[in-house]
Parts: sequence; C-alpha cells; structure tokens
Amino acid sequence: DLERARLLQILADLGQMPGALLPVLHAVQDGFGYIPPEAVGDIAERLQISRAEVHGVITFYSHFRSTPAGRHRVQICRAEACQSMGANRLIEHACERLSCTLGGTSRDASFTLEPAYCLGLCAESPAIMIDEQPYARVDAQRFDTIVDRLDA
Ligand code: FES
Repeated sequence: DLERARLLQILADLGQMPGALLPVLHAVQDGFGYIPPEAVGDIAERLQISRAEVHGVITFYSHFRSTPAGRHRVQICRAEACQSMGANRLIEHACERLSCTLGGTSRDASFTLEPAYCLGLCAESPAIMIDEQPYARVDAQRFDTIVDRLDA
C-alpha cells in the first residue's frame, strides 16, 4: 500500500548509510508522525539488524513514539529551575487532567504529554510549551485554563 511504499522509499534513500538506524527512524517519524510498529520488520530487514535492536532504540529515545501523537503537543519543563518551582507537581496534575502518562496521549487523542529539558523560561518557571507556544509560571489552575481553551 501507499504507506508501505513511503516507508520503503525512506529505507531505499537512507538504508545505505553507515549508522542508518537513527536517520531512518527520524525520517519515518517525520513522515508518519510516529513509528508504526508494523514498520519495525522492514527497517530491521533493510538494515540487517534484529527487530529487538530496532525496538530497543525506539524505546530508548523518548523522542520516538510508537503511536500517533495527539492534536496538541504539551511539553512540561522538568529541568532544574522548573523542578525547584514545582514541575513535578504540575506534571502529576497534567497526567491527571489529561488522563495519560508522561510520554502518552490522552484517550480522545487531543493531547500528547511530553517532558522538556529547559524551555528558556527559567526565570519564570515552571514553564510549559503547547504547540510551540510557551507559557510561563504555570500552576495547576492556569494549566487547566489553558488546556480548556484548546480543548474547546
Ligand atoms: Fe524550565 Fe529552564 S528550567 S525553562
């Protein structure tokens, strides 16, 4: 099918390079929005490595996802300055509010929740970013307000 043709094209373009696995995974995720589990077999075969190896790399890097992302990407900073201002509590709250784990996607596919490591707003922490839009000094209440607005 068309999707598989796209995957095979990526493998044909990049499969030759030494150390092709990471570039291939990036290209697949850029092209499909995630790395479809059914792509793992083709990738392994083309690069002559085991499926377990491919799977290991996908799960090792939090950047790679095996399921489609939600409509909105919510990143919560958990670097030092934000940690000291309650980032962990905010993450807990966000997981509850969006009913998903960190790295997961809400059931209605509206939101994907991801950790970030400094968004450059340390002086106004805790900071979050939603779809490239940064928000500073976010507490639980403000988080809900922002998310409700997007959800509407
Ligand atoms: Fe969170 Fe820099 S530590 S924005």
